[in-house]
Amino acid sequence: MRKKIVAGNWKMNTTVPEGKALAEAIAARVKEIPADVQLIVAPPFTHLVPVSEILCKTPVAVSAQDCADEPKGAFTGEVAASMIASVGCTYTILGHSERRQYYGETSQTLVKKMALALENGLKPIYCVGEMKDERVAGRHFEVVKAQIEEVLFGLSAEQMAKVVVAYEPVWAIGTGLTATAEQAQEIHAYIRGLLREKFGALAEEITILYGGSCKPSNAKELFACPDIDGGLIGGASLKADDFIAIAQAY
Ligand code: PGA
Repeated sequence: MRKKIVAGNWKMNTTVPEGKALAEAIAARVKEIPADVQLIVAPPFTHLVPVSEILCKTPVAVSAQDCADEPKGAFTGEVAASMIASVGCTYTILGHSERRQYYGETSQTLVKKMALALENGLKPIYCVGEMKDERVAGRHFEVVKAQIEEVLFGLSAEQMAKVVVAYEPVWAIGTGLTATAEQAQEIHAYIRGLLREKFGALAEEITILYGGSCKPSNAKELFACPDIDGGLIGGASLKADDFIAIAQAY
């Protein structure tokens, strides 16, 4: 049985007091979530300590949104995987399209980040997805294939077993446009097929999340697809009611 996950990517939103209030609101309603759904929140770095303190008494896991590609040292402004792990985080998002697009993150960098996250006991939520023009040109399979192969195919099976994959079509992120359940299922099945070619039966155990304008009104249809194992939620994760409602969509 694959783990079902609903993860909230807060991006660069909320002050620390606002983030604490959001974490408290989620903690207060956690009993309403089906027991087999793992909830994760990914607040900004500044929030990791207070949010972990609030959520450590609940089954909700805390994730970072990124980690550095170096273990430590003179890299001003960066936050190392070991530091993230040291405050009780168990996951980190890696390769989000906003990091790739706005901060020039490449597969080469992501290979290093992936290794450091895993070495420090963090489970990576590795994001892939095509841009709008790539989808229009029918190149989405090719783009996603390269993102999967370049960063995940160098991992051992033991490492791969700790990775969660998130498919997020860039044209659907924060735009209100969602991939249809058919479009999402098609590419999720394709990703699982790529993982099967490389890692065999382990592919059936890997959680693959959908992300991109996922909300209470469309989560049910998306999560009903055989290869969609949950969601990576941006905007809708900033409201406890919506986030909980999405987790209840299973
Ligand atoms: P969105 O973001 O739900 O606001 O579209 C998803 C994401 O970028 O993880």
